[in-house]
Amino acid sequence: MKESYRTHYCGKIREEHIGQRVILCGWAQTVRDLGGVTFVDLRDRTGLVQVVFNAEVSQEAHLQAQAVRSEYVLKVEGEVRRRPPDTENPKIPTGTVEVMAQSLTILNESLPPPFPIEDGADVAENVRLRYRYLDLRRPRMLSNFLLRHKAMKSVRDFLDREGFVEVETPFLTRSTPEGARDFLVPSRLQPGRFYALPQSPQLFKQLLMVAGFDRYFQIVKCFRDEDLRRDRQPEFTQIDIEMSFVDEEAVQSLAERMIAHLFKETMGIELQVPFPRLTYREAVALYGTDKPDLRFGLELVDVTDVFRGSGFKIFAQAVEAGGIVKALPLKGLANLPRSELDRMQGEENLRIHYQIQTGAKGVAWIKVMEEGWQGPMVKLLHEREREALKERARLESGDLVLFVAGQEEMVNPTLDSLRQHFGRKLGLVREDDFRFVWVTEFPLLEYDPDEKRFVAVHHPFTAAHPEDLDLLDKDPARVRARAYDLVLNGNEIGGGSIRNHRLDLQKRTFEALGISEREAQEKFRFLLEALSFGAPPHGGIAFGFDRLVMLMAKASTIRDVIAFPKTQRGACLLTDAPAQVDPKQLEELWIQIKEK
Ligand code: AMO
Repeated sequence: MKESYRTHYCGKIREEHIGQRVILCGWAQTVRDLGGVTFVDLRDRTGLVQVVFNAEVSQEAHLQAQAVRSEYVLKVEGEVRRRPPDTENPKIPTGTVEVMAQSLTILNESLPPPFPIEDGADVAENVRLRYRYLDLRRPRMLSNFLLRHKAMKSVRDFLDREGFVEVETPFLTRSTPEGARDFLVPSRLQPGRFYALPQSPQLFKQLLMVAGFDRYFQIVKCFRDEDLRRDRQPEFTQIDIEMSFVDEEAVQSLAERMIAHLFKETMGIELQVPFPRLTYREAVALYGTDKPDLRFGLELVDVTDVFRGSGFKIFAQAVEAGGIVKALPLKGLANLPRSELDRMQGEENLRIHYQIQTGAKGVAWIKVMEEGWQGPMVKLLHEREREALKERARLESGDLVLFVAGQEEMVNPTLDSLRQHFGRKLGLVREDDFRFVWVTEFPLLEYDPDEKRFVAVHHPFTAAHPEDLDLLDKDPARVRARAYDLVLNGNEIGGGSIRNHRLDLQKRTFEALGISEREAQEKFRFLLEALSFGAPPHGGIAFGFDRLVMLMAKASTIRDVIAFPKTQRGACLLTDAPAQVDPKQLEELWIQIKEK
């Protein structure tokens, strides 16, 4: 290594270096003063090595070492030697050697760090974010970013080999609707006008297909002003892909090979491709969600028809009112304590204990015991209903069955949460398991009761299933989209679709969305024009890169794989953004802040 400061990295010193003179630079992790000898664990990006300051070797260095505190920046010159017997540390790769210091330079001092620079220290996240540069010194955090780098490089190399061209698209642009609010940037040169930061490069990548680029990709920041969660940030990174002359299969196959390559290269994991596929309807029917965690089974069973006209009036009424009844059979859980079943009663209880916020008021249950069925609803069931339930849910002695009845929009999410809860409780979730699944045939549109109109489930440029085209005007909710999501362990990590490449079809979608000809021209003139100049059939996908890395790194939040993330309130605690600005800046932008 030819560097002016050092000859080796701390974490790389091994027995092969014994007898060599080395110069190391790094941070003092710990300082232990034992009188005539002082030990300093010196740390850099590669790890730790023990440095020994012995007055008999160098009185001066030993004296200087007395001043060293945690996180001081040091340059040490010395000789590598084998550690004396019984002082070895098998827990670290440098544990059989140490460096006998001959000289020490203190390159910089440090205030005492606000938290220990080590993994496992329990530190409040706001403190970590405020001193992010110290948080990032911790080995676990550092390793997340090494993984992120490797992953990015592996994806770029793969796509390059597959003939994709990386093209940058503008950040100062106009709204690209992906279902979130826009971040706006005021224009100084055109007072009263605003750029929007892109929610995705969607329209630009389609224009590149019209331009004949054939295969585009970009690893790119996207900006969405939406409520933040553990897997959502206002600015996040996509692996954005678009291809010409392709159908769903071609895009999915490319994506599968990219993910398989990524897992092999960065983690040595061989994934089985193709990934399984479920239609949206199948996913919701079996798991209550369009992003099922397939690391475990626990499939839901629709028993709506069993309860039509049942003696169990609550369920019969739910069915009467157009609702559904679904069951979650849980093998061998008949001994679940009554207290846990009681927790499932009442909306508030469900929310507190299972984080279910679907409006569900309660969960009915049956315990299938040797001596007979137990549960509040049991005596209200006809023999016929019992038989049907037994067969449908394949009930055996020792099972517990949970039931939720009501409107579909409430029943499915409730059972989804319960399924996840019991999957974990039953120990069915293996953390080192990666289960991918494609979810296909999403609905094109859904009714938004607030807006009182249909909105795009994916985005307004997605093509309708050709068989459903005539439903566009008649029954928009039933139109299937040529859209697909890739789901990993219950997380949506990517989504894409085949697009409308013909002007007439794009116009029909806008109509179904209640977007008038005038509005369409005003907002999307450039797209509509481009579609009239020989747009090829095209489609693509975008992956949430941060989410993907979060899952690969087994991090508990997306913030642990983003160097400088924002809090739930959208704040950067390091820089204190968003901040007030100079009145003069506002004046130049013709902006006035209203007093509250
Ligand atoms: P979509 O909106 O599904 O598709 O986004 C693609 C993927 O990006 C990730 N993602 C996010 N990650 C972190 N924070 C967020 N706020 C956030 N929002 C989305 C998700 C998601 O699956 N233009 C289309 C793609 C296409 O049709 O090709 C699009 O952006 O993992």
